Amino acid sequence: MAKKPQTQKDTEEEKLYQSLRAGTWGEFKGQEKLKKSLQISLDAARKRGDVLEHVMLYGPPGLGKTTLAHIIAKEMNVNINTTSGPALERAGDLASILTNLEQGDILFIDEIHRLNKVVEETLYPAMEDFALDIVLGKGPGARTVRLELKPFTLVGATTQAGKISSPLRDRFGVVHRMEFYKDGELAEIVIQAAEKMSVDINKKAALDLASRSRKTARIALKLLKRVRDFAEVYSHSVIDEVVIKKALDMLEVDEYGLDANDRMVLEVMIDKHDGGPVGLSTLSASVAEDIATIEDVYEPFLMRAGFLKRTPQGRVVTQKAYELFGKSPKNKKSDQESLL
Ligand SMILES: Nc1ncnc2c1ncn2[C@@H]1O[C@H](COP(=O)(O)OP(=O)(O)O)[C@@H](O)[C@H]1O
Ligand SMILES: [Mg+2]
Repeated sequence: MAKKPQTQKDTEEEKLYQSLRAGTWGEFKGQEKLKKSLQISLDAARKRGDVLEHVMLYGPPGLGKTTLAHIIAKEMNVNINTTSGPALERAGDLASILTNLEQGDILFIDEIHRLNKVVEETLYPAMEDFALDIVLGKGPGARTVRLELKPFTLVGATTQAGKISSPLRDRFGVVHRMEFYKDGELAEIVIQAAEKMSVDINKKAALDLASRSRKTARIALKLLKRVRDFAEVYSHSVIDEVVIKKALDMLEVDEYGLDANDRMVLEVMIDKHDGGPVGLSTLSASVAEDIATIEDVYEPFLMRAGFLKRTPQGRVVTQKAYELFGKSPKNKKSDQESLL
């Protein structure tokens, strides 16, 4: 499978997610614990007339990190400035954003685990003291001047909490983990989005769609869009269970929510690597996907759904994965697995 280039379709889809973006606490379903705890932080800051403490959100893609950052800004009635770890190449890029923030504004840094060291270190005094240390001149004559910033809130998002250095993590007031969604919550998200898209879908159909959405809001919305297109082409005015099944079967999304790519990863592991253990970089080469995509996109769900395990020796498929393909482990492997 070749790595997908950023196509027009991707940007169109991105636009759709933006138009469907939950804009208020009421529209933001599930994540109850996180929501309650964030709401307390927000209330406290508002009561004190203070800026909100720095917030870190972590979890797999598509669970609502970016959406939450926007809701926080709206609730605090402040501006939000959005950037990402890889986009901040030089300390100067960060400095120019920071100096333009107003009191209480939110700076959202997506993929914050991908900040380079120099930029990250510039961020420390900015987060801690609302100050920038700027080096003037070079060599022995160089001196540092401190530039005061207006107090702001950093909201950082990451899919890989393990890659955040502890000095950075320690500077966040609160760190929240996003949870995968329950099917009932995803069904609510689907129904809400369907209303915005003027699509008629019944409750059972929304639940069926949810159950194949890998516990992920973004995937539920993506499938809803595909099902809507399918319904349009085949002139179904209402999306019911039958339409859902036909459409998702056609899209090769199975009842576990695995799509052709997920199954390909598992099948390659079984056929080429005897089910593992296989190292991440070897797997990445075998399936022609970059390591980050495997770690961020495929693995979390495959592990959660019980098809894949991580061991100190590498990734290993489970019995459930063999059963999915009607295959059985080679003897040598099953001996080894029973030792794990
Ligand atoms: N809890 C939720 N309730 C309703 N919609 C959600 C929720 N979480 C995510 N979404 C929707 O799913 C899509 C992807 O969410 P996004 O915030 O971009 O995820 P992330 O930043 O974690 O990758 C958006 O359209 C968003 O509105
Ligand atoms: Mg995001």
